[in-house]
Amino acid sequence: MPSSNASADASADASASSAGTADADASNGPLLPLIDQYPDTNSFREEVVAGLQRTPKSIPSKYLYDERGSKLFDDICKLEEYYLTRTEMQIMRDHVEEMAAAVGSGARLVEYGSGSSWKTRILLDALTDVATYVPIDISRDHLLEASRDLATDHPSIPVQPVCADYTTDFALPDPPPSAARTVVYYPGSTIGNFRPEQAHQFLAHVAQIAGPGGGLIIGVDLRKSPDVLVPAYDDSEGITAEFNYNVLDRINREIGATFDLDRFDYTAEWDPDRSCIDMQLVSRDDQQVQVDGVEVSFEAGEAIHTEYSFKYTLDAFAQLAGRAGLEVDTVWTDADDRFSIQYCTVRS
Ligand code: AVJ
Repeated sequence: MPSSNASADASADASASSAGTADADASNGPLLPLIDQYPDTNSFREEVVAGLQRTPKSIPSKYLYDERGSKLFDDICKLEEYYLTRTEMQIMRDHVEEMAAAVGSGARLVEYGSGSSWKTRILLDALTDVATYVPIDISRDHLLEASRDLATDHPSIPVQPVCADYTTDFALPDPPPSAARTVVYYPGSTIGNFRPEQAHQFLAHVAQIAGPGGGLIIGVDLRKSPDVLVPAYDDSEGITAEFNYNVLDRINREIGATFDLDRFDYTAEWDPDRSCIDMQLVSRDDQQVQVDGVEVSFEAGEAIHTEYSFKYTLDAFAQLAGRAGLEVDTVWTDADDRFSIQYCTVRS
């Protein structure tokens, strides 16, 4: 686990408003009150070992996003075959004024899985009088770098980075009393990482964080032909494969496992019944791997599931949101209906 002199441990149930300390390592930017709730090495170790002992085997996809994984994901976003990022950015640019009108002035903007915050910049440029911007990400250094750059470019916007695994209990800083409302920003179709039940829970959490009068701007990738979907998740340069192999490398590095990356194949398959791309690392032969004192056996062809990317029709997403207490207010799409950005309000 990368340790940082910026850490200010806020336990999950602590009031985060008092838990932040100035980031002591801000040699190249403004001091930011990082709230650090980075998951400890033990939860990584335990979740990885538990996932590899289950049938079928799996590794939680959030662990793909360490420092190197986050960089590789940024590279994926620039690939020709990965249409999602550029399509979403174009929808943002085309409709940002309408989005800004939906958010309104004086809002507190909370972003889940902020990564490099590229898309957020488009939105922040169009917003007036932002009460505070709260980027949440699991990758601490990536988060701090993006937050500093953003704070430098938008000196009038208070930036309150939170390093946390947002799929677990975690604390947010209290909203400033002046905030007119809370709007959650969840771009990238990251919702697609969740199985439907988890997606429901996440949206219900968002509805609670946004509260009455609040909203959600969410990027949702739309269901389409596997001829377009599969190459987006199995690109010709092999970057997505490398992104997946990195999680085995990370397990070797951080918990001393003995994965031989050359003995696994990366696959991305479209599952039409579940409406998802299923990403896996498949063992090439019968083999044993040592993981933290536990021997994990693989048969030839046996897979480790690493990530899902669920795809929605507009109807399916509206239903999911509705069950979580959200109402789809506006849908923006590109000309080819590949991707959608949706503004949802909290049903009162
Ligand atoms: C970050 C979940 C949006 O599903 O498109 C891309 C992850 N993994 N290529 C996606 C991902 C491999 C991505 N999300």
